[in-house]
Amino acid sequence: MEISRIGVVGAGQMGAGIAQVAASSGFSCIVIDNSQESLNKAALVVEKSLSKLFSKGLIKNIQEVQERIIWHTDLEKIKNCDLVIEAVSEQESVKKNVFCLLDSILNKEAIIASNTSSISITKLASFTSRANKFIGMHFMNPVPIMQLVEIILGHHTDQHTLNVISNLAEKMGKITTVAKDYPGFIANRILMPMINEAFFALMEGVASATDIDTTMKLGCNQPMGPLALADFIGLDTCLAILEVLHKGLGDDKYRPCVLLRNYVQAGLLGRKTQRGVFNYEL
Ligand code: CAA
Repeated sequence: MEISRIGVVGAGQMGAGIAQVAASSGFSCIVIDNSQESLNKAALVVEKSLSKLFSKGLIKNIQEVQERIIWHTDLEKIKNCDLVIEAVSEQESVKKNVFCLLDSILNKEAIIASNTSSISITKLASFTSRANKFIGMHFMNPVPIMQLVEIILGHHTDQHTLNVISNLAEKMGKITTVAKDYPGFIANRILMPMINEAFFALMEGVASATDIDTTMKLGCNQPMGPLALADFIGLDTCLAILEVLHKGLGDDKYRPCVLLRNYVQAGLLGRKTQRGVFNYEL
């Protein structure tokens, strides 16, 4: 099966990045979001990122890439896609709604992938009638820069679907790893406990936020400290993933730190709200 038309549902930072990488690799791409404002914002994010890559000679023609992306609010427009990648918010009920609609709109051969960062692929697949053609395709943020796509196999995902998605990720210039369907898969099973621990250290007054991050950056060669990375990912997303780990693995070592929960309840979600652990106000 050859993928030529790719649909992306959700025009947040991940959806925009996925569309950009798909279009840069020559695929036609349609991005659906029910908010026109989010679509406009995503188109600007893509333009900014393409300009950076163009200035470094990493892409030849910005306009050509942009022309391969259609932005739309009507989910029906996605019906002729060979693959749809879901990148809506990390809430099971929201995703369920999207998958039920996609399953009824798409032709039977089309593959559905979820960019979920932790929710069970087997469970998400059960909202469709094509569990064998359902797979996890977990891109990392920022999608145009990060090399990895973590592929997650649901209980019924078939070998053909895995082959098609592995080849596609390679054509998008990515390196893949394959994970079984356990909470958090590989990346977040390991990353989120580290981020959570940084919040515990901050809450207990072990050190300031800056010193925690500087220690991990300069002492452990991490490109960003864990608290800045949490702001980058979104504190609400980090909390949602930790809840999945805690509930799914049933071990209190994954309990989300109260301080992280307080930030989220206070509406300090990180970069997207200009305030999280650190301040990003202009
Ligand atoms: N598009 C194009 N270029 C981009 C870009 C984008 N979206 N974002 C950054 N860049 C480029 C910058 O232009 C810059 O280029 P130059 O070096 O040529 O100037 C380069 O990347 C580095 O960027 P910055 O100078 O702005 O800052 P930096 O050196 O700190 O790098 C970073 C930024 C690449 C994000 C780096 O800090 C990093 O790798 N951080 C960790 C990211 C990470 O861990 N991501 C995974 C998160 S977990 C996840 O996504 C999954 C999940 O489920 C939660």
